[in-house]
Amino acid sequence: MTWSVDTLRHVAAGVVVLSYLGLCAGTWRLHRARQAKAERAVAALAPAVAGTPPVLVLHASQTGTAEQIALQTAQALHRAGVPVRLCSLSQLQPDELRATERALFIVSTYGEGDAPDAAAAFVRRAMNPNRPLALDGLHCGVLALGDRSYQHFCGFGRTLDAWLQQRGAQALFDRIDVDQGDSGALLKWQHEVARVAGTSDLPDWQLATPFEPWRLAARHHLNPGSLGGPCFHIELAPPIGSAVADWKAGDLVQVLAPGDPHKPREYSIASLPADGRLHLLVRQERHTDGTLGVASGWLTDQTQLGDEIALRLRAHGNFRLGENAQRPLILIGNGTGLAGLRAHLKARAAAGAKAGAAWLVFGERQAAHDAYYRDEIDAWLCSGVLERVDLVYSRDTPERRYVQDLLREQTDRLRAWVAGGAALYVCGSLAGMASGVEAALIDALGQDGLDRLIEQGRLRRDVY
Ligand SMILES: Cc1cc2nc3c(=O)[nH]c(=O)nc-3n(C[C@H](O)[C@H](O)[C@H](O)COP(=O)(O)O)c2cc1C
Repeated sequence: MTWSVDTLRHVAAGVVVLSYLGLCAGTWRLHRARQAKAERAVAALAPAVAGTPPVLVLHASQTGTAEQIALQTAQALHRAGVPVRLCSLSQLQPDELRATERALFIVSTYGEGDAPDAAAAFVRRAMNPNRPLALDGLHCGVLALGDRSYQHFCGFGRTLDAWLQQRGAQALFDRIDVDQGDSGALLKWQHEVARVAGTSDLPDWQLATPFEPWRLAARHHLNPGSLGGPCFHIELAPPIGSAVADWKAGDLVQVLAPGDPHKPREYSIASLPADGRLHLLVRQERHTDGTLGVASGWLTDQTQLGDEIALRLRAHGNFRLGENAQRPLILIGNGTGLAGLRAHLKARAAAGAKAGAAWLVFGERQAAHDAYYRDEIDAWLCSGVLERVDLVYSRDTPERRYVQDLLREQTDRLRAWVAGGAALYVCGSLAGMASGVEAALIDALGQDGLDRLIEQGRLRRDVY
């Protein structure tokens, strides 16, 4: 049998495609196998052995880093044969801590030196000065995650550490502060964990997933003429054969710009893996001297279509739907915060009729320029994915109106949705919006009502 050149070309192309698909399937299986292994490892963490109390490994995390390090810490102790219990500070009762002999705390800091939302219940219950807790029997270590560019560097870690000492706990070693994932500080933590385990040869852990070369596949300026800074819809194509192009609504990415290669910048993901590309909504920052922000300038101005962007995915457990997947959702945000809310709406649309109702409250400056993804929002309203939409444009009215003002006007509706089991997801600016929304929620639901929502995991925040 003789084959023409064309036939041979087709056969060769088929072989290449099949090999590529095989490679993708292989890397995907590898990824799933790693995930499954990690899940099995958590399940296998040794329960308390009679007579040997477990080391408590406690975490308070907003975007997942502390939780991830806590998991690795617990796994390392477990491998060294130490009974260990891994748990979020929010699940810990004061009495359990009083009865504990050894605990390792891994905590981050949010807001302005505050505890992450996941630790709010612990702060209220256990760190309450009116009910001082005696911790004389406790030996503990604290890993404080933070970022030195904030005024209150590792604020919650420091407060927690001071409180533990005040309550009589003995430090196993000096608190370790970590500035933006500093590897030296994390190595120090690994050594201290090895000492707690009574061994000098715990294998080093891989603390961070590597950055990968994604490609800039599309970029659109969404708001020409706006009074606000330029905002861009950006699409990134995954690296070929990537094993990690898998994320959930609510997750984040970290981007490394060549102008500042040690300090990754975080952005909320605005799409789902099913979209085939990772979407970001990025505001181009401009400093007073006219220069562009390092990462936003890189993403929105200095790169061309097809260029590589060093990026890694960050699971953001606190902002995923998780156990709220079937609840009604109130999605509240402003500016580029629409990114995280858009991913949730896409997930709702994909889940179809079985998902609950959703209400979007979104604020920007001018309807004529800043109505991002308006067609999609209208389509979701038509199809019933969204039951209600309130768009608030602060510069379109003589008096400035923001999402928090809208929530105040809609107090009855807000209470009814919360009474109906709704979960609230807030995404956008920390300055102004997040505190304004919190104040409006306290006015509508009372401080206790808000605390209950946080404890039940029904108030989730991705604010920056
Ligand atoms: C909105 C926001 C506020 C933050 N506030 C502080 C702060 O006041 N002090 C600090 O040291 N770090 C602050 N950080 C940095 C985080 O603590 C740091 O990124 C940490 O590694 C996050 O850990 P996690 O993923 O476990 O929450 C803040 C981060 C964000 C996004």
